[in-house]
Amino acid sequence: MPGLHRVRFKVNGREYELEVPGHERLLDTLRYRLGFVGVKEGCGRGECGSCIVLVNGEPRNSCLTLTARLNNAEVTTIEGIAPPGKLHAIQVAFIETGGVQCGFCTPGFIMMAKALLDRNPDPSDEEIREWFTSNICRCGSYNHYVEAVKKAVEYLRKGIVFFDEREVREKLHLKPLG
Ligand code: FES
Ligand code: FES
Repeated sequence: MPGLHRVRFKVNGREYELEVPGHERLLDTLRYRLGFVGVKEGCGRGECGSCIVLVNGEPRNSCLTLTARLNNAEVTTIEGIAPPGKLHAIQVAFIETGGVQCGFCTPGFIMMAKALLDRNPDPSDEEIREWFTSNICRCGSYNHYVEAVKKAVEYLRKGIVFFDEREVREKLHLKPLG
């Protein structure tokens, strides 16, 4: 169809081939075409970080990224950082340190934390704070999130990458899965 661009890319390891308008944002493709609703829209203009996903391992604001330019790219969203039924150590650390309040900003922070720890497995407090400067949390959980990254470092150092989601829910008295 004229005006549409064919793009083939992977999201969370699965290949997709789509025809999209040139102006379509990756945020909309992920949320509304493909159903990855863990990707959040806050500001819609690159200022809050709630829409951050990884593109070829690099954190990107999906509200500023055009899907048509992503041919052959590998995209990872919060839904793809752990296999089904598991939670990544970073997710568990974020829950355990109690920073998550409304949770709207949390996927963006977790994707940033993943990108940081993939590069630097033992960041200092200062490096974590510096890394998070592109993310905004309206609930003010910044200190908790720094603690969460340090806790994730401990898990990963012990070789614990994934947790069983059901066990985490039971341990933390969270609502059971539907
Ligand atoms: S929604 Fe993309 S940075 Fe705010
Ligand atoms: S937990 Fe509410 S915006 Fe961060």
